[in-house]
Amino acid sequence: MNILVTGGCGFIGSNFIKYILKKYSSYKIVNLDKLTYAGNLDNLKDVEKNKNYKFIKGDICNKRIVEKIAKHVDCIINFAAETHVDRSILEAGSFIKTDVYGTYILLEAAKKYRHKKYIQISTDEVYGSIDKGSFNEESRLKPNSPYSASKTSADLLCRSYFVTYGVPVVITRSSNNYGPYQYPEKVIPLFITNAIEDKPLPLYGDGKNVRDWLYVMDNCSGIDTVLCKGTAGEVYNIGGDNEITNIELTKSILKILNKPFSLIKPVADRLGHDRRYSLDCSKLMKLGWKPKRKFNETLKETIEWYIVNKKWWKKLKDNKFNQYYKRQYKISG
Ligand code: NAD
Ligand code: DAU
Repeated sequence: MNILVTGGCGFIGSNFIKYILKKYSSYKIVNLDKLTYAGNLDNLKDVEKNKNYKFIKGDICNKRIVEKIAKHVDCIINFAAETHVDRSILEAGSFIKTDVYGTYILLEAAKKYRHKKYIQISTDEVYGSIDKGSFNEESRLKPNSPYSASKTSADLLCRSYFVTYGVPVVITRSSNNYGPYQYPEKVIPLFITNAIEDKPLPLYGDGKNVRDWLYVMDNCSGIDTVLCKGTAGEVYNIGGDNEITNIELTKSILKILNKPFSLIKPVADRLGHDRRYSLDCSKLMKLGWKPKRKFNETLKETIEWYIVNKKWWKKLKDNKFNQYYKRQYKISG
């Protein structure tokens, strides 16, 4: 199988590429990535010389580049996106461009070259917030941030390309991922790296918002299941079955690192902050998938990874653009 992976230099995409190259010796991957602030070639150092892997720097909004690659592959898996909710609240334009228009360019290519499958990597945030119970794939879409609205728009475009043109689109909607190589702006790597440096951990609002944490490798195996067995036109939720409040998560990180709770710094809440996400994943489980790894174990492993790989994240946190962004928007941490 020849696969075009987009956004493969980011957190989940890079873990997925390594997962696939290790598992299938006959699969070939082309990784198309624009290398935004979140894209990092260091994430793929282990495989850069693998004969089944090729990197091309480029934008998914660029029809010419996309078509040039799409002509030679059997399927597209679209990870490329602007992904940070806080950034979307400050500046939504790049989210609409990449997440919506970029998806349209990829869908057009999948249609033109009659691909066997198109997988859209979406998010549980398209359903909005839920106080009790869980969302299934039929739940209404009610996004609350410019990020989740852009991802929802892309999901709807995908649906329309399946219904109108028969493009074999499958959508995955996963909960919050964690693990190695996550950019240190997302809460787990931000709090781990701040705690390592004895810097404050900026906890939004009352800290009681709930997220369902999914280890990144369990997401990779879920996407692989969908690639092999998913039905065209269908959506599959992928969750970790690990719902905890942000304050509990923060305390667990500090305990593991043996750091004082006094590092927790309550700050103003995120605008439009979703209270709770929760997914019913029985549909994907019927295809034989389940999350394998335990939260406590993988959180410790993840913390260990950030301790050992300080060079990897220090470079990103000290980056001039990142510093400018934080000053501009008065972001602590
Ligand atoms: P990330 O921000 O770490 O990486 C995004 C990657 O996309 C980067 O390598 C970036 O350079 C690339 N990119 C951005 N714009 C591009 C463009 N126009 N053309 C080509 N490449 C571009 O993101 P992530 O956390 O790995 O998320 C990957 C996907 O999974 C996204 O679609 C996201 O919406 C979805 N998702 C993420 C999570 C999570 O917890 N991280 C959960 C659910 C769904
Ligand atoms: O649910 C899936 C989504 O998870 C993905 O689609 C997004 O791409 C990904 O960024 C993530 O979104 P969240 O907004 O849930 O993740 P984030 O790490 O930004 O925040 C997690 C929780 O932690 C959220 O309730 C806000 C809170 N938080 C976050 C940051 C960055 C804080 O309290 N302080 C912080 O500094």
